[in-house]
Amino acid sequence: MFRRRVIFLFLSLLFEYSLPQHEKESDHPNREVFDKKTSEIPQILKPLATEFFFLDSNITTIPKGAFAENPQLERVEFSNTPTESIEAGAFEGLVDLRHIEISGTLLTSIPVGVFKNLTNLEKLIVKLNKLHNLEKGLFDGLEKVRELQLHINEIESIEEGTFDDLQSLTMLHLGKNRLSSVSPNLFSKLSKLQILRLYENQLTYIPENIFQNLTNLKEIGLNGNKITELLPNLFPHREKLQKLFLDSNLLTGLPPEFFVGFPQLKTLTLQKNQLTGLPTVLFGEMPKLTELSLSQNNLSSLPERIFSPLKTLKKLDLSKNHFTTFLAEHFEGLEKLTELNLLNNKITSLDADTFEKLPSLITIRLAHNNLQTLPQDIFEPLSKLSKVYLSDNPWHCDCKLTHLYLWMKANSAKIKSQPPEVCQYPEDLKGKKILSLTEDQLVCATTTPSPTTTFTSNPNSDCELNLTLTLTNKLK
Ligand SMILES: *[C@@H]1O[C@H](CO)[C@@H](O)[C@H](O)[C@H]1NC(C)=O
Ligand SMILES: *[C@@H]1O[C@H](CO)[C@@H](O)[C@H](O)[C@H]1NC(C)=O
Ligand SMILES: *[C@@H]1O[C@H](CO)[C@@H](O)[C@H](O)[C@H]1NC(C)=O
Ligand SMILES: *[C@@H]1O[C@H](CO)[C@@H](O)[C@H](O)[C@H]1NC(C)=O
Ligand SMILES: *[C@@H]1O[C@H](CO)[C@@H](O)[C@H](O)[C@H]1NC(C)=O
Repeated sequence: MFRRRVIFLFLSLLFEYSLPQHEKESDHPNREVFDKKTSEIPQILKPLATEFFFLDSNITTIPKGAFAENPQLERVEFSNTPTESIEAGAFEGLVDLRHIEISGTLLTSIPVGVFKNLTNLEKLIVKLNKLHNLEKGLFDGLEKVRELQLHINEIESIEEGTFDDLQSLTMLHLGKNRLSSVSPNLFSKLSKLQILRLYENQLTYIPENIFQNLTNLKEIGLNGNKITELLPNLFPHREKLQKLFLDSNLLTGLPPEFFVGFPQLKTLTLQKNQLTGLPTVLFGEMPKLTELSLSQNNLSSLPERIFSPLKTLKKLDLSKNHFTTFLAEHFEGLEKLTELNLLNNKITSLDADTFEKLPSLITIRLAHNNLQTLPQDIFEPLSKLSKVYLSDNPWHCDCKLTHLYLWMKANSAKIKSQPPEVCQYPEDLKGKKILSLTEDQLVCATTTPSPTTTFTSNPNSDCELNLTLTLTNKLK
């Protein structure tokens, strides 16, 4: 017995130096840490130790009654151990246990009875293992558990009623598993739940009423699934919701008025879906929303005034869709918008007034589109504009580009694209940086093309006329 004690004393001294700086054992006089040299759960501890850590230890089994001699334990953690089995009654007798973590093991299942009678447990972390399913009864009696982390496992099924006893639960993390469905009543007893993470599973469908009893939800993570459709009244309790993650699914549409009346919502993600269109009214009464991304969808048009209720929106991302143009009406009401991302669409033309209802705009991204030119004064209403991205468009460097060219010259500090904007046409200017041109290079072909098209600056063409007008205006 004495020898064992000496060995553990020695080991714990040794481990003190192998712990990360901020986790020095001396900061935790009640903590005992075992590392890879430990292959058995010790019975005898240093006096008064209330926390057991097994870090990289060679513990393959956690047997029944493993800690029976140490009823004072408040926290037990197995981290990165090759544990393959854990027996019912493993934590037997630990009436003061508040915190269990079992992560980075080879466990494929946890039998009912492992967490039995742990009536004071508050935090249970069983992440990064290989669990396949969760059986009803596993969490029975854990009435004080507030946080349950089960993410990064291989969970495919959860029995009905599994979570029913967890009446104090505020956080349930089931992200990065293999769930393909969740039953409508799975969470119905978790009335205190604030955070529910179901992201990166295989869910195709979210049943109606699944959030019916969850009146305290602040965060719902459904991103990274295969959800194709959302039911109209999926979120009956919107009062407290702050974060809603719906990105990276297979949504092709959204119900009308789906995002109306979320007084606390700060984060809403919709990018990486397959939205082909949006209902005429979608958003409303979201006074805390400052960012919205619809990037990487299949949108080619928007209803007019779709964003107009979003008075506080600062960033709008519509990149990587199939838009060919936008109208001023699409951006109506976005009085606070500072950043508009239209990258990677198929925009071929824009009206001069397209952005005139965006008085706060600072950044506009129009790179990677199909623009050949932009109308005169398109950026003129934007007094705060200071970052403009226009590269990777097939710019036609002829007389019709003159307005844009002159604006770019006068505002070159605002042109931020890397690589810079270059001409696509005509052939002899192809690849030339627009800002490196001189104004007299921007000429139009004569209106009656001869067999060998000549590019001249015809003093009688409309183009020259417009140019002259511009110049005279500038001189005034
Ligand atoms: C780990 O423990 C098992 C028995 O529990 C033993 O067979 C194995 O050799 C140990 N591995 C190391 C690296 O100590
Ligand atoms: C669990 O608690 C019940 C009732 O409180 C008791 O009868 C039983 O012996 C306890 N089991 C263990 C393994 O401590
Ligand atoms: C919702 O909560 C109430 C009150 O806790 C409960 O009576 C009811 O059974 C719950 N609904 C479901 C579907 O479990
Ligand atoms: C969305 O676009 C992708 C790629 O462009 C395509 O594979 C997919 O079928 C489209 N989805 C819909 C619903 O149109
Ligand atoms: C000249 O300006 C007028 C009116 O602004 C416009 O309709 C016309 O298309 C312009 N012509 C050229 C060649 O840019």
